[in-house]
Amino acid sequence: MSDQAQNLRRVLEHKDRESPKKTRVISVVSGKGGVGKSNFSVNAGIGLAQKGYKTALFDLDIGMANVDILLGLQTSGDIVDMIENDRSIWDIMETGPGGLHIAAGGSGLNDIFEMTPEKKERFSRQMAMLDGVFDYILFDMGAGADRDSFHFILSSHEVIIVTTPEPTSITDAYAVIKHLHLRAPDLGCSILVNRSETSKEGKQTGENLQRAAKRFLKKDVDLLAALPQDKHVLQAVKKQEPFLLAFPYTPASKALQTCLERVAGRKNAESDTGSYKQFIGRLKEFLLKGGGR
Ligand SMILES: Nc1ncnc2c1ncn2[C@@H]1O[C@H](COP(=O)(O)OP(=O)(O)O)[C@@H](O)[C@H]1O
Ligand SMILES: [Mg+2]
Repeated sequence: MSDQAQNLRRVLEHKDRESPKKTRVISVVSGKGGVGKSNFSVNAGIGLAQKGYKTALFDLDIGMANVDILLGLQTSGDIVDMIENDRSIWDIMETGPGGLHIAAGGSGLNDIFEMTPEKKERFSRQMAMLDGVFDYILFDMGAGADRDSFHFILSSHEVIIVTTPEPTSITDAYAVIKHLHLRAPDLGCSILVNRSETSKEGKQTGENLQRAAKRFLKKDVDLLAALPQDKHVLQAVKKQEPFLLAFPYTPASKALQTCLERVAGRKNAESDTGSYKQFIGRLKEFLLKGGGR
């Protein structure tokens, strides 16, 4: 194990031996690509870490993994490495900006979800080692939810569906909600509208989607937040820095902070949405047997 991994393990294990964390696993998904999932995941992770929550981000958009690029991070390992070369999860996780712990995606594997049973077992075993370590684990997923990636999403405690106000993005987001609802009616879903021109547009987009889910699926979907279109997001991407740290007082950062208050408030309010062990149980069930929730 590298020095970095040993340090990380020590940091993570030290304080929590007596009070293990009740981890909430949140998948960030969308129907359409390029709607802002990775930027949201990275900055939300940093914001939660800044609030004192121990937070990890897993880049599960394997093949198109880019969290390390967004953060300008040189990583010494990644999820593909962990699966292919049987490396420890402690070895591949890096401490990124703002104290966010990062598992980069890596390349060379087109689809993490087409793993052999042995590799799936490896993956679940490594994930199980994180029991009690984090307050939040965020999964930054690829677009769409029709592959096996679906299993990771369905195993989570909660799903955030990101959409922009574009009609194509909204219809794709609805399709994802429907898909998830049919497989896991009890899975908590919330909508994040990104890149809205005005707060009114953001609210209306979210409410329309919410209404459609209620009317056609009888599903209650929470409207988490609307983040504005903000030129500082692209500027931060170009600088390979998270916008929350590079431009903390701009509209996107301010809206994200309000959004995170809600996310954190929810964790405190809903302390009983299933344990980490239940998450691991579902993940194994899905990955190894194709069953589950
Ligand atoms: N709130 C925003 N305001 C302006 N541009 C944004 C915003 N969110 C995302 N973007 C732009 O969209 C691009 C794609 O975002 P990304 O997070 O990579 O999407 P995804 O992970 O869904 O594919 C970013 O590089 C950025 O330029
Ligand atoms: Mg992405």
